[in-house]
Amino acid sequence: MPAIGLGTFGSDHVSAEEIAEAVKGAAAVGYRHFDCASVYGNEDRIGAAVREIMAGGVRREELWIASKLWNDKHGEDDVIASCRKSLADLQMDYLDAYFVHWPFPNYHPPHCDVGSRSPNAKPYIHANFMRTWRKMEELVDLGLARHIGTSNMTIPKLELLLRDARIKPAVNEMELHPHFQQPELFAYVRANGIEPIGYCPVGSPNRPERDRTPQDTVDIEDPVIVKIAERLGVHPAVVCIKWAAQRGQTPIPLSTKRRNYEANLRGVLSGPLTDEEMREIAGIDRNCRLIKGQVFLWKQGQTWEDLWDLDGVIET
Ligand SMILES: NC(=O)c1ccc[n+]([C@@H]2O[C@H](COP(=O)([O-])OP(=O)(O)OC[C@H]3O[C@@H](n4cnc5c(N)ncnc54)[C@H](OP(=O)(O)O)[C@@H]3O)[C@@H](O)[C@H]2O)c1
Repeated sequence: MPAIGLGTFGSDHVSAEEIAEAVKGAAAVGYRHFDCASVYGNEDRIGAAVREIMAGGVRREELWIASKLWNDKHGEDDVIASCRKSLADLQMDYLDAYFVHWPFPNYHPPHCDVGSRSPNAKPYIHANFMRTWRKMEELVDLGLARHIGTSNMTIPKLELLLRDARIKPAVNEMELHPHFQQPELFAYVRANGIEPIGYCPVGSPNRPERDRTPQDTVDIEDPVIVKIAERLGVHPAVVCIKWAAQRGQTPIPLSTKRRNYEANLRGVLSGPLTDEEMREIAGIDRNCRLIKGQVFLWKQGQTWEDLWDLDGVIET
């Protein structure tokens, strides 16, 4: 898996066309890893972009293309069909990685308010998740996905999955940035041979208002990050990306600006941060989760913390 990927979630501020342009531009400067998902609503445009990239001489086996099963497709009859739909949109016959996007089958309409709750929402039910996972394993057997993975998981949920899986997750996509380092989960996945992929690696500075709370902190304004950026003469975002790659996770920053995605790639390929800088960044963790997942809650009166099993027990 290439050590940096391009995120492709435009949310409601970047169009599918702009994302597809960024995919082409990023491939031209050297990116080979693209983090996609059916719910991002742009896989058909990305497919057309990848076709152009390959027409320009890049071979399929040089690329790492990931996609994700959305929450409304956890049903046994839906998993393989959903993967095939992503493959058709992306115009390819296999994925390098296919993730279960969230461990809950709880669906919500795109762009809905954080207060919105689905009446059919359920807690994590391991037997149901395993039925979904069996179909994920079948995708590997069928050659449709080279690797399968999880996203937005917790240690208690991963423990059950690792106990029961025939094919274990090869990758786990999780929120990771200097102000949200998740040291226990990060260490757990690595100890279990699962590669951590870090989303929102820059701290998602342009996320929509509905995903912001007054407690959220800003990684790229942290004095430690800013000081290192000044030493290197780069944007603080690049320091976040360098830290991520050097720590051992694979960052997947989104950028639609060539200057920025090129700087991020160069950041991963250029000389390392010093040990002292790595120690300083380790010290600025604020445990500040940005993607809280409120819309996936299943009971009235719950808070988002219930999605993340903070006391080590799966919430029901
Ligand atoms: N598995 C999941 O549940 C999950 C959840 C969230 C996200 N993701 C994935 O993770 C990807 C990244 O997350 P994200 O987009 O929320 O957050 P992010 O990558 O932390 O931040 C993206 C923002 O940072 C800016 N940026 C990036 N590089 C920069 C640079 N060098 N200088 C200045 N600004 C820079 C970009 O603006 P410009 O475009 O102006 O450069 C962009 O708006 C998503 O696209 C998606 O693929 C997965």
